[in-house]
Amino acid sequence: MEQYAIWGGNPLVGEVEIGGAKNAALPILAASLLTDDTVLIDNMPDIRDINVLLDAMKGIGVVVERLGRHQVKINAAHIHTTAIEGEGIRKMRASYYFLGALLGKYKSASVGLPGGCEIGTRAIDQHIKGFKALGAKVRMEHGMIITEAIDLTGAHIFLDVVSVGATINLMMAAVLAEGLTVIENVAKEPHVVDVANFLNSMGANIKGAGTDVIRIRGVKSLHGSEYTVIPDQIEAGTFMMAAAITKGDVTVKNIIPKHLECISAKLKEIGCEVQDSDDAVRVVASRVLRGTQVKTMPYPGFPTDMQPQISVTLGLSAGTSIVRESIFENRFRYLEELSKMGANVTIEGNVAILEGVEKYEGAAISATDLRAGAALVLAALAAEGFSTVDHIHYIERGYEDFPEKLNGLGGHIKRVTNADELKRARLKVV
Ligand code: UD1
Repeated sequence: MEQYAIWGGNPLVGEVEIGGAKNAALPILAASLLTDDTVLIDNMPDIRDINVLLDAMKGIGVVVERLGRHQVKINAAHIHTTAIEGEGIRKMRASYYFLGALLGKYKSASVGLPGGCEIGTRAIDQHIKGFKALGAKVRMEHGMIITEAIDLTGAHIFLDVVSVGATINLMMAAVLAEGLTVIENVAKEPHVVDVANFLNSMGANIKGAGTDVIRIRGVKSLHGSEYTVIPDQIEAGTFMMAAAITKGDVTVKNIIPKHLECISAKLKEIGCEVQDSDDAVRVVASRVLRGTQVKTMPYPGFPTDMQPQISVTLGLSAGTSIVRESIFENRFRYLEELSKMGANVTIEGNVAILEGVEKYEGAAISATDLRAGAALVLAALAAEGFSTVDHIHYIERGYEDFPEKLNGLGGHIKRVTNADELKRARLKVV
């Protein structure tokens, strides 16, 4: 019964350090399979998804050495199979990155069908379409996706939907292919650019990452590299929203303000003060917040991974807010949990209408996925009274030291594992 026990009602105040970006680190780890040389990666977050991926890599013979909590050395010269299986990997969406990396290097890959958070259909047809365009065959067998090629040859690929996963996977599959690959209508997220930078640091020739068109000129081989993962845009955004929802004053450090512009803009719109410096952003919420409209979009639009965090904040903001989810079709399930805390929400298809209430009240709630889980924790920190949040394994997939960082800002949140610890947390006995 792992749960967070939370006493709400305190404004969060202080400074918090942001870790490396999960959604950059996962494909960067997979991309390190593309060279026989040793790769050193820094600013790797210590979270469950990363550890599952590293274990899967060890399972196929990759030498993984942790040099510190956030630094890992990888050598994939002697893998003994290109098939990646296992319970953990099946639960994780990012396992699809092994397809692109292993296909690119060994012309063969089999991966247990990807899972991840249950937030919609999450097809991978665009990945498959791209692999086929490069000359690979793709089939499904016993719950595995199998892709093989004799040779990979550069191709012109037009993505039908803007997909982070397909963009990164196709870059990895194409870096060692013969000739030029052009991928159009690609995702422009900071983590797409980070993976391209990492591949280029290993000797790849990728141009245009961060724009709508990526051009990849195939090279013969890639070499070792030392690379630092960018800061996590979504972890940073979550703490910015924690300041807003608790009427606090939080400085989020070790970030790239440019990556947070769409979040900062919305926070200003609802009445927060937002101050940027070189590698930090401060959010002060001293006034009554007002509702607004949000529509999730591919970068540089408002990220779907911040939709739950801003929605719980809008639920406490004056007036009517309208949140339109345009990336994933099943991303409002947490709102039922939020209603248990007193939120006034109506859902119509992919639109949530929130009538701002004055306060939330503590309740026993469940995380429904990673970002929704984090958002519900924020709601509980803002609520009057005591809450429990269960299914925290979702949250631990993507947030390092989440309770510790929140407590560092004056929150009261404790990870409990049994009834006795829960009782003590409820009674505020340390
Ligand atoms: C990644 C992130 C996730 C984030 C999402 C959007 C990782 C591990 N996960 O997920 O946190 O919420 O980007 O920023 O980095 N689609 C297709 N066919 C495809 C691929 C995608 O139809 O082949 C659709 C999806 O169903 C979705 C949309 O495209 O509606 C965007 O998906 P995509 O950008 O691929 O998300 P993920 O890579 O799964």
